Order: sequence, then structure tokens, then C-alpha cells
Amino acid sequence: MCGIVGYAGSVGNAKDIIIDGLKRLEYRGYDSSGVALICNGKLEVRKRVGRIANLEELIKGETFDSKVGIGHTRWATHGAPSDANSHPHTSPDGSIAVVHNGIIENYVELKEWLIKEHGITFRSEVDTEVIVHLISVFFEGNLEDAVFKAIAMLRGAFSIGVVCKNDPDKVIGFRRNAPMIAGIGKGCNFIASDIPAILKHVREIYLIENNEMVVITKDDIKIYDMDRNEMHRDIFHVTWDAESAEKGGYEHFMLKEIHEQPKGLYDTLHRRLDENDMIKLDGINLTKEHLENFNKIYIVACGTAYHAGLVGKFTIEKMAHIPVEVEVASEFRYRDPFVDDKTLFIAVSQSGETSDTLEALREAKRKGARVLSVVNVVGSSVARESDDVFYTWAGPEIAVASTKAYTTQLMSMYIIALYMGITKGTIDKAYYEEFIKDLKAIPEKAKAALATEPSLQVFARELYKNEHVFFIGRGPDAGVSYEGSLKLKEISYINSFAIAAGELKHGTIALIEKDTVVVALATQDKLYEKMLSNIQEVKARGAYVIGLAKEGNDKIEKQADKVIYIPECRDELTPLLSVIPLQILAYYIAKERGCDIDKPKNLAKSVTVE
Ligand code: G6P
Repeated sequence: MCGIVGYAGSVGNAKDIIIDGLKRLEYRGYDSSGVALICNGKLEVRKRVGRIANLEELIKGETFDSKVGIGHTRWATHGAPSDANSHPHTSPDGSIAVVHNGIIENYVELKEWLIKEHGITFRSEVDTEVIVHLISVFFEGNLEDAVFKAIAMLRGAFSIGVVCKNDPDKVIGFRRNAPMIAGIGKGCNFIASDIPAILKHVREIYLIENNEMVVITKDDIKIYDMDRNEMHRDIFHVTWDAESAEKGGYEHFMLKEIHEQPKGLYDTLHRRLDENDMIKLDGINLTKEHLENFNKIYIVACGTAYHAGLVGKFTIEKMAHIPVEVEVASEFRYRDPFVDDKTLFIAVSQSGETSDTLEALREAKRKGARVLSVVNVVGSSVARESDDVFYTWAGPEIAVASTKAYTTQLMSMYIIALYMGITKGTIDKAYYEEFIKDLKAIPEKAKAALATEPSLQVFARELYKNEHVFFIGRGPDAGVSYEGSLKLKEISYINSFAIAAGELKHGTIALIEKDTVVVALATQDKLYEKMLSNIQEVKARGAYVIGLAKEGNDKIEKQADKVIYIPECRDELTPLLSVIPLQILAYYIAKERGCDIDKPKNLAKSVTVE
């Protein structure tokens, strides 16, 4: 959460480059934004509550002759969104500015110390303000010295960007458990929270490690550890094309990313198959002996990634014959779970930076588990701290509501399950080959699932005024129901609720009344009749039912008011297809309600605080 961009260079104007970068990081937070620019020996700071468009409005007409600066887009933690609480924060004499992503845990005691010992007057409610005051108290002409001294006093997880008009050619960044990269340009260099911010300008980057300072000037990038040793870092080449982080003609990133799912599914599968269709897991060293040693698997994640785990459990248990528990990371890390060296811990994360997932992973590692992560962002913290990494090939996901990351995470689960099964010998070659054949057919079937879009647009127009929607399903369909419900609530603000269909009668059915909308997933052949009975139960209470079934299973038409069909496929694989109409439905309902689809209120894409 929160996005940072820093620029030092002779190419272009720092203000324009930084604001453009912030817009590409707006998915990280959009409560307020601001810039600090060094202009002819002066430090100019402008900040404004609300979207970056508000900041642009504020500075329109002003020209800043600037080659060095920092910018920030905020997701509020300490202190409400307001102009005063917006970043950058400045030193009392206005010479130093700081932007910050994360939380300073000991800011209360630092604030008291700064007030008592240095007579500082605080101007905001945010924890960040202590950082700039500490740097200013320690500044004696060299910004690196002052930042190192300030950092030594801070506790928490954070990354920062700093500029100083009395050391005017450089931008300093520091990373501790919150993401930061440095971009290597020609006549210019960058720091940023994430690659899309600078992809337009550079394709070569350095991944900054925890507890490292990065100092950029227009000609140079230096990285230091906490002992001030200069660190060597290999260059990381970004392989995405710049367009993949653009809207490409779609009205919203979410719609574009929904439509990118056939490609993401294809890439995630085919990158892992050799010419004989055998799974090759480069970067993963899980042998038959390792797999036979595991007596338990935890899949731990947050949000949509957790929902991918709920579906993954079915296939991994079935193919690998190892019990799987799926848990949200924020619970796992504090409940003292039973983990030892016979445990495989699978972390699932699009960003690879989610604080709860990262801390749960560390906890599992401390207890001796082997850690396999399923991650989209290459080089992210989760990936770096795992023993084995399975990268999804979704490409950059910008919309806050996750779509293509989810389906590629699901695809990864099937590949991992198949690999485990065939390596352990718990599935045979014929089953493996049949399953791979079916998986290879999925990208084309996903295209067919996208063809439901026009009819879903019509449904959305009928349904968008409802304030409550229920999602029900059984087996893997229950997992997909949770994801469908999350999509709807996060972007449309409709109160949606998902529940395993068989559990409905144990309480939740009390909420079903005339015209309550129920989305009923009935894609599992062996549970089909059971689902039809559950649909009957809600129909009997007056519900308006939208059924979702496989083509050919049309008995549902007798009970549901509307039916959406997905292409025929084996039961285990329906989640890859059934979620697509649910994403589209959520999208068009949110659109009908006039919601800001790519930037839903109160949310952020990458949650790097607890
Ligand atoms: C946030 C995002 C969700 C995402 C979750 C986990 O809440 O808004 O879309 O599913 O974090 O993120 P991760 O990057 O770990 O998958």
C-alpha cells in the first residue's frame, strides 16, 4: 500500500515523470497524493487529498524547473486522508522531504522524544512525520549519514524516499519489509514501489533488498547495507511489454484483465510443459523423497489468493494424497499452528508483498517447513524468501479487484497437484495424460466463457439495484462462490455473502425472502442433483435465482430464473471457467452503479501493513 516514485535525471521534467509514475501506482492507494521537487535550490512541495487528478488540478499552470524529486500516492493508515496528512512531509525549515510506505511502530515514543528534546512542532497525525524530523535533527551536510541515523531508530515495516535541497542532486530510498526497486535509465535513474511506475522509461532494474539504502543521482545508483558496505546487485531485465500495464482500449483495467485470462492460463500452463507434455518445474526442487516426507500441506494466503487455495486443496489432496489445510495468513501467523519439517507451506500471492502472507511464511520457515510460493510478481519478497517459487504468468495486474491472477493461481494449483501426483506415483500416467489434455483445452474454453459478456450485461441492468446477493455452491463451486461474492462486494459495494450450499439451511436461509438474489453454482456433475435441491430450497422462500452450469446440464432451467452456461469440462477444472462470468457480472453491476471500478473505496492492491 502507498506508492513511491523518485527521479533524478537530465531527461524531461521531474514533475511530469513523477506524476505519470504515481498514476501507474494508484492501485496501491488513492486517498491523497503529493510531490516534492528540487527547483533551482528550493524545495517545492504540493499535496492534495483525493485522487492524483486533484493534485494535477492544484499544480496546473505552475511550471517547475526540476530534475530531482519524489512523489507519493497514499493508502491511509495513521490519520485520515487530508491535505495535512498527505505525503511528502517536510522538516521544519522546509529543506528535507520524505515519502513513506508502511508503518513506523514506535512513532509515538519517537514523537515524544522529538517534541521534548528538540522542540519540534508536529503538523500532521501521520507516523511518517517522525522520519523527516529525525533526518533533519541528524543532518549535518550529508543526507546518507542523516538517513542512516534516523533509520537506526525506526521500528516497523517501511520503505521511504527522501530529498534534501542542501544535498540537491540525489534521491535516497530505503527498504525494510516494504517493496522498493531502482530503475536504471540513460541520464536518469529512478526509485519506485513497483515496476509499472517506471516501465515507460526503463526495462533494467535493481531489486533492493531489506535493510538496504539506495542512492540515485542522474548518472549513478549506489546500494548500501546497514553497515554502509556498497552492495553489488545483478541487473533484472523486465520482460513485460509496456502495453501490458496500459488499458489498451478497455474502459477499465479490470475488464482488460478479465479478457487477458485465456492468455494468462495458456502461458502459465505452457511455460511448465516440455515437448512431451511433462511438467518441468524450473526453480523448484521438490523430489519424490521430499514429497514422501510431507505429511501435511498448508496453503496460506489473503483475499483472492486465499480463494485460489480453497479450490487448490481439492486437487492437491486428490492427486498427492497429502492432507491440505487452507488458512488466511492473518490468522495462521498468530495461532501457533502445528508445523514441522514434514510440512509443506504453500504461500499464494499475486504481489508477493502482502505483509500477512510474508509473516506467515516466515513463521512456517522458523518452524522448519519447506516453503513453496505461487507468486505473480517476479523478485517480490514472498518469492525471494521461499525455498521454491512457482511463478504465475498473468502479467501485471493493475485493477485492485484481482481476476487474471486468480485464474492463473488456480492453473498453478492444478500443475503443482499433477506434478506431485505423478512424481509420488499416486496418479498413473494415463490419468496424468488425460488431465493435461483437458488442461490444454482450458484457454480456448475460457474464451468461450468470455462470450457470456453480452447477456451478463443485460442481467447487470436488471440486478444492480439489489442491496443483498447470496452465492452458493458445493465442493470446488463453494470456493468459487467465495471469489464471486468478493468480486461483487469489493467493486459494487453490494452486501454479498457466499456460503457452501449445504450449510445454507443451518442459519443463513433465514435471510432469504421474496426476490432475494441467489447466484447458484451447479457445475459439479456429481453434486448437480444436490444443488438443484438447494436451489429449490431458496426458490421456496421466494429467491430470484441465477444458476451457473455446464453446457448440456439444462435441467437447472426448470428451477433457476436465469442460467449462465460455461463450456463442458471435467468437474475438477470448472473453477477456471465458472469464475469468469462471475467477474463479468460483478464488473457490469458495479458499472451500472457508477462505481470507480479499478479503485474501489478503502481498498488497495498490495497490502503491506498488518
Ligand atoms: C488485497 C487485494 C486483493 C488480494 C489480496 C492479497 O486485499 O485487494 O485483491 O487478493 O490483497 O494480495 P496478494 O498480492 O497477496 O495476492
